[in-house]
Amino acid sequence: MPTRVFDIAIIGGGVIGLTLARELGARGAKVAVIDAGDAVPQATPAAAGMLAPSFENCEEFGGPSEALYRLGSRSLELWKSYAAALEEETGIFIDYRNDGALGLSYRDAQTQDLAEQAVRVKKLGGAAEMISGAEARALEPALSKEVAAALYAPEDAQVDPRRVMAALTVSLNALDVEMVRTRVLSLGEGDAARQFASADGDVFAAEKIVVAAGAVSGLTPRGLVYPVKGEATAVAAEVVLTRVVRAPGAYLCPKAEGRLVIGATEELGPLIDHHSVSDAAIAGLRANAGRAVPALETAKELERWTGLRPGTPDGAPIMGRDKEGRFLALGHYRNGVLHAPAAAEAMAALILGETPPFDLAPFDPRRFGPGRFSPGQGG
Ligand code: GLY
Repeated sequence: MPTRVFDIAIIGGGVIGLTLARELGARGAKVAVIDAGDAVPQATPAAAGMLAPSFENCEEFGGPSEALYRLGSRSLELWKSYAAALEEETGIFIDYRNDGALGLSYRDAQTQDLAEQAVRVKKLGGAAEMISGAEARALEPALSKEVAAALYAPEDAQVDPRRVMAALTVSLNALDVEMVRTRVLSLGEGDAARQFASADGDVFAAEKIVVAAGAVSGLTPRGLVYPVKGEATAVAAEVVLTRVVRAPGAYLCPKAEGRLVIGATEELGPLIDHHSVSDAAIAGLRANAGRAVPALETAKELERWTGLRPGTPDGAPIMGRDKEGRFLALGHYRNGVLHAPAAAEAMAALILGETPPFDLAPFDPRRFGPGRFSPGQGG
């Protein structure tokens, strides 16, 4: 017999799980979020919070890049009101900034790549323009003289993911969303498909189960959601950057209280230590940041960390249902924070039996081939 029975159980309390819980809770549904906390490496608190559809799409994977771009740009638009509403409701500042982003080049080949990216973004209806190094320095005077050109994406934005998580937690509390702190180890099959078991030996059941777990949950078939490690650091910003700067080999995100996040490495494979942060990785990021903004070379380090992005084979998220009828909202790779409001509205509609506001077919789990989502165990 199950220990507890829920109406809707969301497995995974990252930004995707929590925004979905808020959407469902606000619509009157009875929701519980089951989350392992820091017992497993998390993606959201490690993220820089860039809301950057102009730079982040899955072109290089040959996946559904137009659909991915449209998901990102829809969600970027939603963030404007989402951020304001979340702050007003909770009184928690989430450091939403929509000053745009600059992608830098130092040489012709990089300029060419950025120019091609600008053309793609404009073709998809986004805002992107190539500007000279001098024009980039007029926007951000701390940039190096070495900067030859830049892609300026005036509508890209950012938030502080840790502040967002704090605000969502307050919001969910007010909505009576139950938070259960335990690690889910397995999902039931067949007649037991409405059940799942935890590391504490409990068996839970729910009318509707949503899997929004991270990269190392082991709740998806092997190889479909896998960890892509990212190391990052924060420094005391001795120079003022007003917007996100994406330099070759490092992105720089100015945050509140004089903090500047410099990210991030990308590493994957079976031999990766998921928990360590290496001096070499941080030194590499610092060198790349210092090349773009020389005054950062001596900036004091405040913190360093690592996180695990939930990668998928084509770089696009998985939103839909598995063969057991469970709902899947996972695999947002580099863009969970960006996608969260749009993913929440679409997944809430699906869960409540409504038509989602945009086509989820490009993100359907079945795109990976028959049988990959039946049943929900593996890892
Ligand atoms: N979205 C930036 C990163 O994943 O590092």
